[in-house]
Amino acid sequence: MAEPVQTPQAFSPRIFSGIQPSGGLTLGNYLGALKRFAEKQNEGIETIYCLVDMHAITVWQDPAKLRQQTREAAAAFIASGVDPARSILFNQSQVTAHAELAWIFNCVARMGWMGRMTQWKDKTAGKDTENASLGLFAYPALMAADILAYKATHVPVGDDQKQHLELTRDIAMKFNNDFGVNYFPITEPMIEGAATRVMSLRDGSKKMSKSDPSDQSRINLTDDADTIAKKFRKAKTDPEPLPHDLDGLKDRPEARNLVNIYAALAGITPEKVLEDHGGAQFGAFKPALADLAVSVMGPITAEMNRLMQDAAEIDRILGEGADRANAIARPIVDQVYDIVGMIRSRPV
Ligand code: AMP
Ligand code: TRP
Repeated sequence: MAEPVQTPQAFSPRIFSGIQPSGGLTLGNYLGALKRFAEKQNEGIETIYCLVDMHAITVWQDPAKLRQQTREAAAAFIASGVDPARSILFNQSQVTAHAELAWIFNCVARMGWMGRMTQWKDKTAGKDTENASLGLFAYPALMAADILAYKATHVPVGDDQKQHLELTRDIAMKFNNDFGVNYFPITEPMIEGAATRVMSLRDGSKKMSKSDPSDQSRINLTDDADTIAKKFRKAKTDPEPLPHDLDGLKDRPEARNLVNIYAALAGITPEKVLEDHGGAQFGAFKPALADLAVSVMGPITAEMNRLMQDAAEIDRILGEGADRANAIARPIVDQVYDIVGMIRSRPV
């Protein structure tokens, strides 16, 4: 790969991130993404958050459910502290710049790059790739377009998105090199904290995911207090008590996961959790974790339910966010057409 022709320092800092409204959101989405999105609003950098409905349809989505899930995800953002007055919050399909830039990037990115994406390989593992959608294969080019349509410099995500962000950097570098411009920033991923990879409650080697067939594997943002307590009580663990330091969590993925979840929910380090709970049996630690989770998630779930009563208001917020997003992305993508050599008959 060629050397970067532009460093992000030359671009004014701007944060962009996205979540797929392809199912109910989980505690993994909350700790790995939503909670951090809300915190970023206080760092004095412009924040843009997107419900990526066009990514969601790379696998089949029932139209009525997609609409419902998009509103629910918007409610989850707001309930988690993302303030639509301070951040731009919208759904992707309402800003056409994303699809337009994605096409250009489909022509910049190489088949080989896409074929190496572990998410593509995981999602098609053991299946007939002949039958996977072309959109699923091209998914990372649309993600790069999401980010670069705003020349975003920083992208907070969970650990699973690291490779997609490397590809975004490769696309930006290749575009800059191919056209001899310093147009796109080389975006920095922000993967921080104890909960960059929240694991399944049933299997410490798999990430907690809204698409896992077992509902027991995850805490949904819509789960009530009883369900949360039950799921933590039944979470897979080993028979040993909690250790007193991080070394003692080696080769104990399920125990490590519960400690990390506790730390992220309490806003303390995993070391501190072990200082306080080292020596405890899971019989005692799990109820403490469940109580903590209910005290943090309960108000968020209640606020989500309240917001969901007024779908028209959610749609209004998304529309307003889309207008503000479009005002940034439109001129950036218009200039891309110009760089690429496409005739623009009307002044931009
Ligand atoms: P997705 O649900 O795949 O659209 O992911 C939306 C955001 O949540 C991305 O930043 C992911 O990295 C993050 N995320 C999803 N699942 C997890 C998890 N189990 N642990 C931490 N972050 C996650
Ligand atoms: N691919 C991301 C995920 O599944 C979602 C996403 C789409 C995204 N576009 C993005 C995340 C842009 C960050 C920035 O989690």
